[in-house]
Amino acid sequence: MHVAVLGATGAVGRTMLDVLAERRIKVDRITALASERSAGKTVRFAGREIPVEVPRPGIFRGVDVALFSAGGDRSKEWGPRAADEGAVVIDNSSAWRMDPDVPLVVPEVNMRAAENRPKGIIANPNCSTIQMVVALQAMRRAAGLTRVIATTFQSVSGAGETGRDALRRELGGEGLQALKLGAPADGSPFSRRIAGNVVPQIGDFDDEGWTGEERKMIGETRKILDLPDLPVVATCVRVPVDVGHSVQVTAETEKELTLDSLRRALVVFPGILMAGGPEAFPTPYEIAGRNEVFVGRLRSDPEIPRTFHLWVVADNLRKGAATNAVQILERLGSG
Ligand SMILES: NC(=O)c1ccc[n+]([C@@H]2O[C@H](COP(=O)([O-])OP(=O)(O)OC[C@H]3O[C@@H](n4cnc5c(N)ncnc54)[C@H](OP(=O)(O)O)[C@@H]3O)[C@@H](O)[C@H]2O)c1
Repeated sequence: MHVAVLGATGAVGRTMLDVLAERRIKVDRITALASERSAGKTVRFAGREIPVEVPRPGIFRGVDVALFSAGGDRSKEWGPRAADEGAVVIDNSSAWRMDPDVPLVVPEVNMRAAENRPKGIIANPNCSTIQMVVALQAMRRAAGLTRVIATTFQSVSGAGETGRDALRRELGGEGLQALKLGAPADGSPFSRRIAGNVVPQIGDFDDEGWTGEERKMIGETRKILDLPDLPVVATCVRVPVDVGHSVQVTAETEKELTLDSLRRALVVFPGILMAGGPEAFPTPYEIAGRNEVFVGRLRSDPEIPRTFHLWVVADNLRKGAATNAVQILERLGSG
């Protein structure tokens, strides 16, 4: 298989190359693409150094699958061209996610949607949404789903290498000063200093006070679950963690369900690792580098009927991006 990775030098692109190699996907040829800034550099794939190229018309001819993680503008520009040149595009940006002619896919939830791709493009959902919908699908299978309220705690790598850099620079060289509020590092993608802080803004605010990330979680969750009227709200928060997003989910089921039945439904669901007890809760630091969705702190609401609370953690660069995309690629090959 000939695979192209657009954005191969970025946080997600590098992880894609790692995940392709780890999962022993039969890749005979890899084309690594990034911006002019990276021309002349190499990236590592399966122990080899691959030269980085700049995308140009014709580059996707002969490519079977093109994995895109270079931002929405590049996806809009190169997605249709790559599809015209014969590649199946799996896009990590938000450019195509809500397009009715582009399936939005989490393999454990709705892989069949990928069969119908009139534009030749499959979209990979938002990182926090992916991990949340895996847990929601397990609940829904057990007892239906009627309401979702989510609060996220998202790592700086969710904003790519510039996010990781900003945290490193704010923490580095300034000792304890780093923990006092001050200006963000130069070039930081965050609106406030992130070191020693918690920032309830991811993306721009709309007229009603919701951020872009919150709107993505709401719209994408409904599309993936194919429940267009599902009441969903989200509050998305950036935290000074390098890798790994955490989501506190409150969800109401349609039918009555015991806590034990819900726990069993989560344990047997593919891709979920369920904490063995309250103290075994997952944290991003512990699960970074893993491909699964980790669930803990499962509780039944004492006051509100059919309502459960759970803590869902995943590596945003892996299940939230690269691993999900590579799983789609694997299943396309086997389907
Ligand atoms: N980070 C996450 O957790 C996450 C999760 C889900 C989805 N995503 C999405 O994945 C995409 C990439 O995110 P990231 O976190 O990996 O960002 P990143 O670390 O900033 O990497 C961006 C990549 O895009 C390339 N690029 C930028 N401008 C380009 C151009 N004009 N032509 C070709 N390549 C260009 C960069 O190449 P240079 O190195 O040459 O600049 C780099 O390889 C974004 O759309 C993001 O929304 C990210």
